[in-house]
Amino acid sequence: MYYFIANWKMQLGVDESVKLAKKIKASYSSSEAKQSREARNVKVVLCPSFDSLESVARVLDSEKSKVKDQRLRIFLGAQDMFYKKRGQFTGEESPFNLQELGVKYVILGHSERRKLGETDEDVRKKLLMALKAGLVPIVCVGETLAERKAGKTKDVISKQITAIFKKSDFADSKVGLRNSKLGAGNVAAGFSLRKVIIAYEPVWAIGTGVFAEAEDAKEVRDFILKLLRKYLPSPHLPLLARGRVRKGEQITVIYGGSVDSKNIFDFLTKGGMEGALVGGASLNATEFLKIVKKGNELRI
Ligand code: PGA
Repeated sequence: MYYFIANWKMQLGVDESVKLAKKIKASYSSSEAKQSREARNVKVVLCPSFDSLESVARVLDSEKSKVKDQRLRIFLGAQDMFYKKRGQFTGEESPFNLQELGVKYVILGHSERRKLGETDEDVRKKLLMALKAGLVPIVCVGETLAERKAGKTKDVISKQITAIFKKSDFADSKVGLRNSKLGAGNVAAGFSLRKVIIAYEPVWAIGTGVFAEAEDAKEVRDFILKLLRKYLPSPHLPLLARGRVRKGEQITVIYGGSVDSKNIFDFLTKGGMEGALVGGASLNATEFLKIVKKGNELRI
């Protein structure tokens, strides 16, 4: 399965978001895409700003009912949320309200939010709350240019992953990362790592036109999988050790940072990525769909 997440940031007005969503839907529904859609190989997620969620939800819903049996796989995502359900939190967004609007995915810990002061601990709390609310979290991690130049990429990734995905949270709380199907462990809430998408986004590659080498991205992806091994029940460790978990037990890692229709292929193949978080290139329906099409061509 490939995920293509369109992050529209604060780039569009409400009408513009609706227009773009309609354009993406229309092209995706075209006969050209029909065949690949049927392969059920790709999920597309549109993440407009909060003010446009409801209008974009309406676009997606109307389309869904129209082509109900064509298995159209375009979903609504939010760019952030708060880690509380309700309360006196002026200006914050409850994940439960997002869900009411039809949101299925939520981006957490994007570096543009971290620059505004968001910490790993905030992201951790948001991750747990998103899972409780039944949203699929897209958790962003990545190093800055200075950190990369200092050879600290893995240190940074390790710090972020271990702070956000605290084992104790999952071992003791109701929000278990283990799924009953996966064997022993905490199965209280039935959550699993399969419900989480991790986006490796080198900060220096975001919005710059400079992107990571696919091989370097793969190294980080493999490192993330290694770090998260401990969250899976022991019978599956040998599979992870071989660098790949079995179908249905996957930890999904995608890449983000200046993705376009020319470089996406390498990230999906040499980079081993299961999709992309796309900013700038997702603002153009044609370019974004070219990216999606690459995923359709490659079947995993
Ligand atoms: P970009 O943004 O594709 O414009 O680099 C990616 C992101 O911020 O997620």
